[in-house]
Amino acid sequence: MGRLVSVVLIVLLLTPIASAWEVPERGIIYQVMVDRFYDGNTSNNEPFYDPTHSNYRLYWGGDLEGLIEKLDYIKSLGVSMIWVSPLNDNINSLAYGSAPYHGYWTRDYKRIEEHFGGWEDFRRLVKEAKKRGICIIVDYVPNHSNPVNYGEYGALYDNGTFLTDYFKDTKNAEVNPITGIRENVYHHNGNIYTWSGIPLKYANLYGLADFNQLNPWVDSYLTEGAMLFVDSGACGLRIDAVKHMELGWLETFYLRLYSKGPLFIYGEYFTPSLQKGDDLYEFYRYSNVSPVLSIPIREDIVRIFAFFGGLDKLSEELGDYYSHFVYPTKAVNFLDSHDLVRFLNAGDRKDEIQRFHMALALTLTLPGIPVIYYGDESYLVSKDGKGDPYNRPTMVFDNTTEASRIIRTLGGLRKTNDALVFGDFMTVTASYETWAFERTFGNHSLLVVMNKGPAVNLTFSVDWPDGNYRDALYGGEMVVSGGKASVYLPRDSVYVFHIEGEQKKPLIGSITPYAARPGQEIVIGGAGFGKGGKVIIGGREAKVLSWEDGKIVVEVPRLETSAAWVNVTVVSDGGRSPPRPLRYYSGNDVPALIALNASLVGEVSGTLWLSGDLPELGEPRPLLKSSMGYYFTVAPLPEGVPFSVRLYEGKAWGALRPLNLTLYGVGNRTVTLTEKPPGVSEGQKAGQKDVALYALSVVMIAALIAVVWKRKG
Ligand code: NOJ
Ligand code: CA
Ligand code: CA
Repeated sequence: MGRLVSVVLIVLLLTPIASAWEVPERGIIYQVMVDRFYDGNTSNNEPFYDPTHSNYRLYWGGDLEGLIEKLDYIKSLGVSMIWVSPLNDNINSLAYGSAPYHGYWTRDYKRIEEHFGGWEDFRRLVKEAKKRGICIIVDYVPNHSNPVNYGEYGALYDNGTFLTDYFKDTKNAEVNPITGIRENVYHHNGNIYTWSGIPLKYANLYGLADFNQLNPWVDSYLTEGAMLFVDSGACGLRIDAVKHMELGWLETFYLRLYSKGPLFIYGEYFTPSLQKGDDLYEFYRYSNVSPVLSIPIREDIVRIFAFFGGLDKLSEELGDYYSHFVYPTKAVNFLDSHDLVRFLNAGDRKDEIQRFHMALALTLTLPGIPVIYYGDESYLVSKDGKGDPYNRPTMVFDNTTEASRIIRTLGGLRKTNDALVFGDFMTVTASYETWAFERTFGNHSLLVVMNKGPAVNLTFSVDWPDGNYRDALYGGEMVVSGGKASVYLPRDSVYVFHIEGEQKKPLIGSITPYAARPGQEIVIGGAGFGKGGKVIIGGREAKVLSWEDGKIVVEVPRLETSAAWVNVTVVSDGGRSPPRPLRYYSGNDVPALIALNASLVGEVSGTLWLSGDLPELGEPRPLLKSSMGYYFTVAPLPEGVPFSVRLYEGKAWGALRPLNLTLYGVGNRTVTLTEKPPGVSEGQKAGQKDVALYALSVVMIAALIAVVWKRKG
């Protein structure tokens, strides 16, 4: 009997997480700063504890135990994911006059911070959350550990064993002959002094010890640390400061984590505005690999609702913003966060609550997955200040508010209306004060109509069947007749109309994750999949692991391709779905520093780019120029596989001009590109020819002997 129980337990533990996974677009994320949420265990509060909750830079007692106690409250808001602030063990001292209550100053990536609990508590949180249909997303910080000049000076531990600190690491650091950066476990290149080029990724962010992720030990250590959360049941990770790490390293890091199942990983790429520059371009480049937080649109949303500005301008900006994503509905949208001034702390309008409700409803209906920052539902603000750390006050629990009702209602609609989940985005009409946008997915539609000015009777054209429609939030009415819609909108109102028609033809809405290598499981979300059928990926049939009308889990097949993107199509009784793209990697990838001697290219106008004949190199990658006379980039590369690249020059948003130059390399941790295929010199080429001729003669002589032999017989 005991044996049977162990076998069942092992099977359960080995069951891929895909079986319990929801399509993330169907849900809402609730963001919690653990220390500020709820104190479930007063015995872990010291040191650096302020029971009066007046010093915002000290611990206030919140922990995993407290979060578990409040799971029913969180569930009552109808959310399906909880993003918890970083849980890893932080420095045991103050730095810059602050305790690491926020969780971003890690010292040990294998342990949980003792103020928050331990691994047992984390696993219990996962289990208790799962019982309530909620999964846990952990904030993970692989760019840096902790402050270099204060506290523990970048001290690093491996499950309790001291490894190094920033100053010890300096002694063993050496100058990288390609990048020119002094490095070992950390980069030793001072603080980020200019927010572009090499310093952006290879220097300390706000004085925090910057990891050298290309050091194989660091690479494994950070990966193992993240795996501990995944193995303990986390369904996703929010990755801190991705802008300050090489995308090529993140790609290999993500791919390794995805070997555990279809995780939902999204990154924090901090670019605050929609200003078209290299930074925004990079933001979209990162989004091609993994979802990113919608930081660029947030400022304008708050400005337009909390202060002034036209909805017409906002609608144009948002249309442009979403047009640059491969998967706009994977954007992670938020209104408030622990880094920005809370909406209700920002302005000082008489109608700020109504405006907050409008902005909240917008966040919940735009393409993407919405995040509710803890306390948004209870109008949490600080009387002591505005930005960080005052945007992190102690939680006030109140799920009876109008904001809670909006969250719950639109969260509910996400379960039934596929346009809200996967739909496109089109403005129907917009003025300074009014706006209507439509989202469509197959036979489901959504129409969001709003007015931030005096009451108005809004009329516009819409391709909806004649009829009277009722808004999901307040019961507002819209009449459609002959393609003309008419709706009365009070001041500061937002209405959400919807249609749910039957979907017979298969339609793919999302792929999770949308970057994958052979053998990896991915979840295809959508509608009209029916009871069974086939999934074709890059022309090959994929192994189906589970099949539901709105969700299919498949294993990505091995493909013969050098393209970065391959098509995914669902074929079922209802027909064939339009294809959707999957970012394909050939597998067995290592993070590779790819370099070429600058003398090979001469003067370059704009940036130098490369793309090559492997899926990993299918999308152009920008190169940086080092003080050592090299251009370099980091990309995942299949180990030992030869490849060639072509070079281009140009600006990020412009057309790339090909240079007449092809270079060669073989996948490895460091690859210096050469003008000839590596390992094949002219002499070797001639030698290879001789071997081929010799082999041909042997075959011909053997054939001749066989013929003569046969005749004789
Ligand atoms: C971004 C986080 O959101 C912020 O709170 C943190 O301080 C920095 N990254 C550094 O980790
Ligand atoms: Ca506590
Ligand atoms: Ca960095």
